Amino acid sequence: MDRLKEMREKVNRAIKEFLHEEKPPRLYEAVRYLPLAGGKRLRPIMALLACQAVGGEQTLALPYGAALEIIHTFTLAHDDIMDRDEQRRGMPATHVKFGEATAILAGDTLFAKAFEIVAGARLPAEVVARLVHSMALMSKEICEGQQMDMCFEELEEVDEAAFLAMIEKKTARLFEHACLGGALIGGGSREQQATLGDYGRWVGMAFQLWDDCLDVVGKDIGKPIGSDVREGKKTLIYIYAREHSDHTGWIPYHGKHDASPAEIQQVLQAFAASGAIDHATQKARGYAERARKALAPLPESESKRLLMDLADFAVSRGT
Ligand code: IPE
Ligand code: IPE
Ligand code: MG
Ligand code: MG
Ligand code: MG
Repeated sequence: MDRLKEMREKVNRAIKEFLHEEKPPRLYEAVRYLPLAGGKRLRPIMALLACQAVGGEQTLALPYGAALEIIHTFTLAHDDIMDRDEQRRGMPATHVKFGEATAILAGDTLFAKAFEIVAGARLPAEVVARLVHSMALMSKEICEGQQMDMCFEELEEVDEAAFLAMIEKKTARLFEHACLGGALIGGGSREQQATLGDYGRWVGMAFQLWDDCLDVVGKDIGKPIGSDVREGKKTLIYIYAREHSDHTGWIPYHGKHDASPAEIQQVLQAFAASGAIDHATQKARGYAERARKALAPLPESESKRLLMDLADFAVSRGT
């Protein structure tokens, strides 16, 4: 994992350089706050590894990887407003620290900054054009997924297919484009780009399914536990528990914003007793396995091995 640490530091340095101080200071303090607050840097690391896995020099993918991480932090700043979460990366959320209006603007600025970085990257013009186009499509899909996630809060019943379509957009697409774009920058063939895109998408599905489990069973994950229950998120855990619970007395507490700790506990107990957490964990592991298998056509290399390890990490982190 030393190689991954090295890559994380490389990404951190790039982000710091790209997000230099500008005026007005209040805005740029908020812009730099979350991106410089740590984070696992999984998406940029995957972009670098995908670039290397097809024979490219990994540093070539650094601006693109940093830009994707910056888009990711924009979505997190806005997501915490939408989800009413007050903690992120172990610190007060951006809107708690700077107020909602500045948090919205900081997110918007980060979004613009990401395009500025990729448009100015020293890469062939046709590669830049493709990256910019896919970043735009991906960003729209993240917004669509986030809107679906919120619309589902209002429904009592959401089926598994609709849930999977939602997480594919809100989370998996970014992982997919990190890997696909990395392969493009590295000079990979169309087939290799598709292979790595598939890997990224499956890792992203696994990652979100396991993130939903961590909301119930996580420890020290730098963000609140039980928040999805209070918000009434229709996770796979909820969907399965609703179908497989003997008693449904917990359902009114799911989505009750001012639920007491005892009421939340009742929901969590129903989740565990119904087998829903095990079910979602198995499903997450299934996607991680699919991700590993997708890499089969690529030649053996250190970067391929690290991508395999990251698929496992996506479903084991945080406990
Ligand atoms: C959190 O992503 C948002 C989800 C898609 C679940 P990460 O868990 O990668 O967050 P950081 O970047 O490490 O903080
Ligand atoms: C995050 O989903 C997806 C995006 C930010 C686009 P969550 O709402 O589950 O992420 P966390 O748990 O707040 O990190
Ligand atoms: Mg959310
Ligand atoms: Mg959230
Ligand atoms: Mg979550």
